[in-house]
Amino acid sequence: MSERTPQRAVKAVIPAAGLATRFLPATKAVPKELLPVVDRPVLQYIVEEAARAGIHDVLLITGRGKTSMVDHFDPHPYLESRLEAKGDLTRLAAVRRTSDLAEIYTCRQGEPLGLGHAVSYAESHVGSSPFVVLLGDEFTEEDKPLLPQMIDLQAETGGIVLAFIEIPDDQVDRYGIASVSDTGTPDVVQVTGLVEKPPVGEAPSNLAVVGRYVLPAGIFDAIRRTKPGSGGEIQLTDAMALMLAEGTPVHGIVYRGVRYDTGMPLGYLQTIVELACQRDDLGPAFSAWLKDFVAAQKA
Ligand code: G1P
Repeated sequence: MSERTPQRAVKAVIPAAGLATRFLPATKAVPKELLPVVDRPVLQYIVEEAARAGIHDVLLITGRGKTSMVDHFDPHPYLESRLEAKGDLTRLAAVRRTSDLAEIYTCRQGEPLGLGHAVSYAESHVGSSPFVVLLGDEFTEEDKPLLPQMIDLQAETGGIVLAFIEIPDDQVDRYGIASVSDTGTPDVVQVTGLVEKPPVGEAPSNLAVVGRYVLPAGIFDAIRRTKPGSGGEIQLTDAMALMLAEGTPVHGIVYRGVRYDTGMPLGYLQTIVELACQRDDLGPAFSAWLKDFVAAQKA
């Protein structure tokens, strides 16, 4: 009997075609994925997270007015030669790093008809292999990686692997929510049901799907068979629920690190403050100022 050789996900897809209305007017001409967190755009943190997990092939699903996202990852010989001539080797290394992280590929989602619809554009790029989806406005703590464990688990099961955080009951209507059963392994659960953005009071649990997925290629066929759902959009959650109903194993890892959510102004500000405080160069001075500032607000 021939044994199945497990296939590991080696490509990532980042859906990033959205209009980002929550950040208007800042995002009228600048993609929200390029808003800076200290001195790196959000999207770079996401590509770095993929690269740390060994994923160096990244497909960006972009849309109208968002091509500058791709420029960020291009080599910039003129800028590099100027920095070299000035002897600014620290900045030179930072600039070069952006083009060394990954091979970036792009395709365009003509109309933003939902996350499932965005992911469907990746079919010809990823082919028949499993792949990772990283949503373009959230990323995880560098010291507590999530993707490697997800990729390993997907290679083992051949199914879908999700990541969850526990959220307060009154926030369930902002996320995909799962019903789960134990696997016997701490923080690894078997998913028994999935629902996109249920009304408060009607959710099966408080385990929310975060923006990291490892999916088998069968998702493309499931998306084709998925009708518009929450918000009138083709939802990835609904396509995954269809595969679950048809027998695909779906597991989840409960993430215990910090998830930085830059998709809304409050989370974006919190992310900047937290990461600025952690910086060796800026952290001490910024934290000291922040303490004084907060104390003065209370007075
Ligand atoms: C998307 C998904 C949702 C998931 C969330 C995580 O929603 O549809 O299932 O819980 O990302 O951030 P969005 O935030 O794009 O509305």
